Amino acid sequence: MGESLRIKGNNTLVGEVSVGGAKNSLVALIPASIITKSVIKLTNVKPIEDTYTLLKILEKLNVFTLYDNKDVLYIDARKVKNCILDCEEVMKMRASYYFMGALLSLYKKVGVIGPGGCNFGERPIDLHLKAFESLGVNYTLSNDLYLFNKNGFSEKSFRFEKKSVGATINAILASCKTKSKITFSNCAMEPEIDDLINFLNLCGCNIERQNESIIIRKCSKIHGCEYKVMSDRIEAGTFMIIGSLLSDNLKINNINPNYLSSLIKVLEEIGVTIEKRENSVIVKRGNIYKAVNVVVDTYPGFPTDLQQPLSVLLCKCDGVSTIKETIYPARLSHIDSLNAMGADIFIKDELIVINGNRDFVSNRVSGKDLRGGISLVIAALLANGESIVEGVKYIKRGYSDLVRKLKRIGASVELEEVSNEKENC
Ligand code: EPU
Repeated sequence: MGESLRIKGNNTLVGEVSVGGAKNSLVALIPASIITKSVIKLTNVKPIEDTYTLLKILEKLNVFTLYDNKDVLYIDARKVKNCILDCEEVMKMRASYYFMGALLSLYKKVGVIGPGGCNFGERPIDLHLKAFESLGVNYTLSNDLYLFNKNGFSEKSFRFEKKSVGATINAILASCKTKSKITFSNCAMEPEIDDLINFLNLCGCNIERQNESIIIRKCSKIHGCEYKVMSDRIEAGTFMIIGSLLSDNLKINNINPNYLSSLIKVLEEIGVTIEKRENSVIVKRGNIYKAVNVVVDTYPGFPTDLQQPLSVLLCKCDGVSTIKETIYPARLSHIDSLNAMGADIFIKDELIVINGNRDFVSNRVSGKDLRGGISLVIAALLANGESIVEGVKYIKRGYSDLVRKLKRIGASVELEEVSNEKENC
């Protein structure tokens, strides 16, 4: 039994939305908690599918959890035990690979099956493995199971040949209990990495960010703490795009506008009015929108996670817009479905080309990954008539309480059970 969203489009939206804790921070903080072998209290923990999957993985490691299914999560890792993580939950999501780094900080021999996650082309983990090797870890790979053995000599420094959020986080996790100074350079700059660093430092680690370098020094004692997960800049950005299309006044609360500078720049260039406050933004749609050319890049560049939602907005601009997706060039699952709803989007010379001045029409469509799924929801909110968006299980991996949040600002959205939903990835 799957779920779908029945959406009657074209309602004007108004009011306020509060954004939850950042998925991509939370999915690192939960595995990181085991390093402390103590009790951790995390707040601003949103009830998304990835949270529940990680809690099931913690169970396998004899780590106890208490979650109020809204906001507060207690993790008791005092009796953590090593085991080979080869269960279905690990294979279901990408960020389960953070257990590789977290377990390597505690044990010499670690086994973790290769990760799953949204399917948008090649997602190698070679950079993670090279960082582990620099820390003296050898590995074998058989039937997708990585068996790590930490015995060798740890390098004093390691340079990532390419910026990677996941590899930077795994390198920090695996080395945060080092006995001597280690410097990682050419590290990714995404704020979720700094959220992890802040958390680990609060637990007693000694980690310093110097621009693209991260320096890890010996720490004395690691202990538990209480920590508030940073807010989700991608959820915030999604609502900013929704507001740009459908609202004369949408306030988005519980966000740090500084983390959304690249999106704000694009929205302002298009013709959207954005008022920035300390912990919120107000979005006001414009009358005529200008076509733009956007290049997706690592932070602080335009985030790949907003490429698919932005595509919907660019369909309403006057002229031809383009997006160059440099991080995940195959993250294109939304295009056919958006075209089936009236968009005119195609790929030319490695660019996503989006013809503007299009009106969306209602249809039955199916999301195939998280951000592709939410882009179909945005198109359905715009379309005249009633649309059905399937593939809600993907959307639930990153957006919590979506129906309630959308209804509160005036959208007509219902969640329904469907019996014949196809498996897409
Ligand atoms: N890459 C490699 N080798 C590696 C790792 C990455 O070649 O070992 C490449 C990737 O193929 C990609 C680029 O490096 O072309 C950047 O990948 P990165 O490692 O930064 O991405 P990730 O850690 O796998 C995280 C988020 C993604 C988000 C990207 C980019 C998590 C759990 N996932 O993925 O979030 O798109 O960073 O910002 O933090 C999402 O939230 O929808 C999502 C997919």
